[in-house]
Amino acid sequence: MAAPVAIVPYQADHFDGLDKLWREAFPDDPARNRAAIAVPAKLAEQPELLFVALADGTVVGSIMAGYDGHRGWLYAVAVSASRQGEGIGRKLVSHAEQALKRRGCLKVNLQVREGNLVAGFYRGLGYAEEPRTSMGKEI
Ligand SMILES: CC(C)(COP(=O)(O)OP(=O)(O)OC[C@H]1O[C@@H](n2cnc3c(N)ncnc32)[C@H](O)[C@@H]1OP(=O)(O)O)[C@@H](O)C(=O)NCCC(=O)NCCS
Repeated sequence: MAAPVAIVPYQADHFDGLDKLWREAFPDDPARNRAAIAVPAKLAEQPELLFVALADGTVVGSIMAGYDGHRGWLYAVAVSASRQGEGIGRKLVSHAEQALKRRGCLKVNLQVREGNLVAGFYRGLGYAEEPRTSMGKEI
């Protein structure tokens, strides 16, 4: 039977596992999204909103949340390929939503890259496509 999963706040000794998970789950991500850059940046801002799913001490999932006082955002939702389909992704999203809610957050947003067929996962968790144009700029 697969080892049970616990969702816990990120700690330094999770770094290698998180890096490996993100490389596996997001192979096409730009360098700025790699753990070496994104984790220290997150630890400087709301570090308590970076969570990992652990099974037997191994990182098998992740989620990063942020609250800017107006909206909550979810990032880096990932589950190891070998543990997908067990409800870990659902658990991670719910865990992050609760953490955002405790901060007073009323609405959560997330973005899905074009070509990623994961929208159905989020729809099942109550998220809906909204008529917005997503814009971004590197600064
Ligand atoms: C998306 C992801 C996090 C889902 O994790 P998971 O642990 O496999 O998901 P769960 O087992 O919690 O699934 C919850 C529900 O969503 C459904 N689901 C999961 N992936 C789905 C998908 N790609 N499309 C539609 N439904 C999906 C499951 O069937 C399950 O439905 P049920 O409750 O009716 O049984 C995982 O597939 C992943 O890491 N993907 C690669 C990284 C990625 O693209 N992340 C999203 C970036 S926006």
